Amino acid sequence: MDSLRSKENLNQFERIFGKTNSTPRLFEAPARINIIGEHVDYLGGIVLPAAIDFSVQVFLRPNQTQTYRFHSITYNETVELEKPLQPNRQSPWTDYIAGVIVEIEALGFFVPGFDLLVDGNIPQGSGLSSSAALEVVTGYAISESFGFNIPKEKIAVIGQKAENHFVGTKCGIMDQFIIAVGKKNDCISLNTDTLAYSYHHFELGTNEFYLINSNVKHNLKDSAYNKRRSECESALQKIQAKHPKWNQLYDVTLTESELKNCGLSPEELKRTIHVTTERERTKLVIQGLESNQFQTVGDALFATHESLSKQFEVSCEETDFIVSRLAELGVIGARMIGGGFGGCVLVLDKKEHFDKISAEMKKSYQQKFNIALDFYKFQISDGVKEISI
Ligand code: GLA
Repeated sequence: MDSLRSKENLNQFERIFGKTNSTPRLFEAPARINIIGEHVDYLGGIVLPAAIDFSVQVFLRPNQTQTYRFHSITYNETVELEKPLQPNRQSPWTDYIAGVIVEIEALGFFVPGFDLLVDGNIPQGSGLSSSAALEVVTGYAISESFGFNIPKEKIAVIGQKAENHFVGTKCGIMDQFIIAVGKKNDCISLNTDTLAYSYHHFELGTNEFYLINSNVKHNLKDSAYNKRRSECESALQKIQAKHPKWNQLYDVTLTESELKNCGLSPEELKRTIHVTTERERTKLVIQGLESNQFQTVGDALFATHESLSKQFEVSCEETDFIVSRLAELGVIGARMIGGGFGGCVLVLDKKEHFDKISAEMKKSYQQKFNIALDFYKFQISDGVKEISI
């Protein structure tokens, strides 16, 4: 977000909460993409996300009371909350903030009252993790403002717990983690079983990644997400009854017929096939990026999309259409990213193709669904941080 907008927000903060002799501090968290490793981060899998330069910003200032006052620029709304904090049906955007306070206090800290103003430019419902960014930026802002010095990796876990417990989506750790620890120009490979991670730098040469927003968000998203997660958990239980050596679904190496012998339902079988085949595709993508084998990377992206659509069943007509049309037009690779049921498609292609592909895609999507597509070019950027204005 540009510094002019931040300055206007500072003025707005002081108009709403009053001017005192202490200036609110400004914190920023990015959005994220995920190159590969989709729907495996709650099953002990490896994911390959990167932070990108859309952001959520918060101004925070302690207010020497026991009241929390939040203002959202997006919703043009101010909400005051007192403990005990409860999910707020009227203004659900406050849950991502309140949930983080609750989780920080669950660690034994006492979070005094504060005033907070939030603004952002991450398109909501686009699968780029605007909610995780709000959780992480809130956690970091509280930790820094009250001197808790919570490590960023731990802030990520706090954000995930806020989402799991307070908001009620049983998400994995990927989004909060990359938003917390992201680094300019690098992606990370994160082992979601151990939370060990490393930074990977890659150069795309004459190619680029970009995003296409389908501009649809099907409302089954949250309930279907939790359902997929429980199907994977019950699949693992059935597998473990016969093969106790596996602690994580991601690690299972049984053939399809061996899986069937474990008594998996047709849904459990399909979910397991997606999760275990994603393991191989992830290896191919990491190797492909390291050795400039971009077609290998692209093929794996297409294969992941197919698997998310047919085996994990989290795609939708619109994103399936985008990916198959892109394949016809000859891009290197493409797939839906994030939780699914709409949102963004990640594309890998030659830079010089962009104008032609975007014009063609806009036209065919409009014809088919009567919806306009948005295209986002992005930079890989840093994780959560304090900024000065
Ligand atoms: C959402 C969740 C993540 C992850 C992805 C799918 O973004 O928040 O934890 O599960 O879906 O990979």
